[in-house]
Amino acid sequence: MSQLATPALRHRLADDALDVIFRTARTYNEWLDKPVSDETLREIYNLMKWGPTSANGSPARFLLLRTEAAKERLRPALAPGNVEKTLRAPVTVIVAYDLRFYQKLPKLSPHNPAMRDLFADNPEFAETTARRNGTLQGAYFIIAARTLGLDCGPMSGFDNAKVDGEFFGADTPREGMCEALVPGSIKSNFLCNLGYGDPASVRPRAPRLEFAEACHVL
Ligand SMILES: Cc1cc2nc3c(=O)[nH]c(=O)nc-3n(C[C@H](O)[C@H](O)[C@H](O)COP(=O)(O)O)c2cc1C
Repeated sequence: MSQLATPALRHRLADDALDVIFRTARTYNEWLDKPVSDETLREIYNLMKWGPTSANGSPARFLLLRTEAAKERLRPALAPGNVEKTLRAPVTVIVAYDLRFYQKLPKLSPHNPAMRDLFADNPEFAETTARRNGTLQGAYFIIAARTLGLDCGPMSGFDNAKVDGEFFGADTPREGMCEALVPGSIKSNFLCNLGYGDPASVRPRAPRLEFAEACHVL
């Protein structure tokens, strides 16, 4: 992969690409019977990781729940209206962020070594930065999934404290967990069901605000 897109390679995406990412992409609650491979999950991550974050801190962490047993652990935290669709989704992603993301700054921001201590010395600043950039990275995840032909169903209807206790608590069993999820320093942000959406299941699209209702040029 080239590290820098030359001006000649930068161009407006074709209309059908814009449709897939935005205009015809929908939020899904029902899923086709088509699995999502580990390879595809890696591909989504390896695209979305390039989205920008403050100081390149990359605070988002993703716990990808695929098995019935993992989904059952999530169930008690879900709002009633989110239970069935989550159990039916091929994968449910816990989009989370690491409060101590700055520990990886020596790798991620080698040109700016002072940044690590700036966050380490100011937990409130670190928390705000982690949540803001972790949320952005959640959006990058959705966009990346769509570019690969998948669909998403993001959800905030759940109990964050219950999810954090079950999956990210200091005493959560470490079995099967990777080094990405440091006990006691991960906070859930939102959930995102992931799969190939059933087009028969979507309601008519709700409108969006017009430019003048949401934007102002000074
Ligand atoms: C952060 C976030 C939280 C959401 N929470 C829920 C939820 O808890 N339950 C639900 O059914 N839909 C939830 N939604 C789905 C939104 O209602 C949906 O994305 C929005 O209405 C746009 O739908 P469309 O993409 O089909 O146009 C959430 C979406 C986002 C981005």
